[in-house]
Amino acid sequence: MYFAGVDIGSTMTKVVLMDNSGNLLSAIKGPTGPEYRQLANEVMRQALEQASLQIDDISYIVATGYGRLNVPFADRQITELSCHARGVSSLFPNVRTAIDIGGQDAKCMKIDNGRLTSFVMNDKCAAGTGRFLEVTAATLGIRLEDMGDISLKATKKIQISNLCTIFAQQEVVALLSRGEKLENILAGLHDALASRIAALARRLGIKPDLVLTGGVAKNTGMVRAMKESLDCEIFVPEEPLLTGALGAAILAKETYMKAVAAGEALPTKSRRLEKATFFS
Ligand SMILES: Nc1ncnc2c1ncn2[C@@H]1O[C@H](COP(=O)(O)OP(=O)(O)O)[C@@H](O)[C@H]1O
Ligand SMILES: [Mg+2]
Repeated sequence: MYFAGVDIGSTMTKVVLMDNSGNLLSAIKGPTGPEYRQLANEVMRQALEQASLQIDDISYIVATGYGRLNVPFADRQITELSCHARGVSSLFPNVRTAIDIGGQDAKCMKIDNGRLTSFVMNDKCAAGTGRFLEVTAATLGIRLEDMGDISLKATKKIQISNLCTIFAQQEVVALLSRGEKLENILAGLHDALASRIAALARRLGIKPDLVLTGGVAKNTGMVRAMKESLDCEIFVPEEPLLTGALGAAILAKETYMKAVAAGEALPTKSRRLEKATFFS
C-alpha cells in the first residue's frame, strides 16, 4: 500500500510518496505557478515516475497548503498547520513548538503528543516571511541559497530600521552605497526578520524542543538569527521544505489505516492524472 501528501504552498509545491511502513519512496519539489491544478498533476506525475508507481497504486492522498483545494485527485484536504505539526513530530518526537517560515507567511505552532494544540500566524505582510529574503536577494543580485552563508561571515551587524519589505530594499541599497559590507548588512537583515518572528512565537509561548521548518529553515543565517533572538536550541529537519508534504502523507496513511480498522468505506474512485499543458 502506498500513500501521498501533496503540499501546494504559496511559493513551492511539494509531493511525498510513502509505503505503509512509512518509508519514503519519492519527494518532488518545484516552484508554485499560477495554475495550481495543472501543477498538482505534474508534480504527482513526477513523484510517481520516481517511485515507478501508477496513480491507482496510491491508496489515499492528502492535499495541504495554500492551494490544497486544487488537487483534483486528493481524497482529503488537511490544513498546512496540522500537516506541519504531524511531519515535524515524526522527525522530532519531543517537539513542543514548531515555527514554519514559508514564502508568504510565518506560523508558530504548539504541539502536544504529535498534535497541534494552538497556533499564531502572520500572513498579512511580506515582512516576516521568505518573500522578504527573496526580494532582498533579487535587489542585491545574489542567490537566495547563498544569503544565509554570506551573513554568517559578518564581523558586525548593521541594524536595519525599516521592517517594510519595500523600504528595507532602499535602506539596503543606501547602506551598500555608503560602503557597508554586504555580509554585515545581511546579518542585520536576518536579525530584523528573526526578531519579528520571535515576537510572534513569544505571543504563543515557547516550550522546548523547538523545531524550525518550512523553506526558510534552509537559510543558515536565519537559523543563526532565530537561535539568537529566541536564545534557545533549535532543531532543523534535513529537508525542511518537505515537512508539510511529509505530514500530509503520514496523515493519509493514518486516515486510511483507521478507516480499515473501523471497517469504514474507503475511496474506490479510479484516479486519473490530467495532462499538464504548460510544462515543456
Ligand atoms: N535553498 C534555499 N535557501 C534559502 N531559502 C530557501 C531555499 N529554498 C527555499 N527557500 C525559502 O523558502 C521559501 C519557500 O518555503 P516553503 O516552505 O516552500 O513556502 P510555501 O509553503 O509558502 O510555499 C522561499 O520564499 C525562500 O525564501
Ligand atoms: Mg508551506
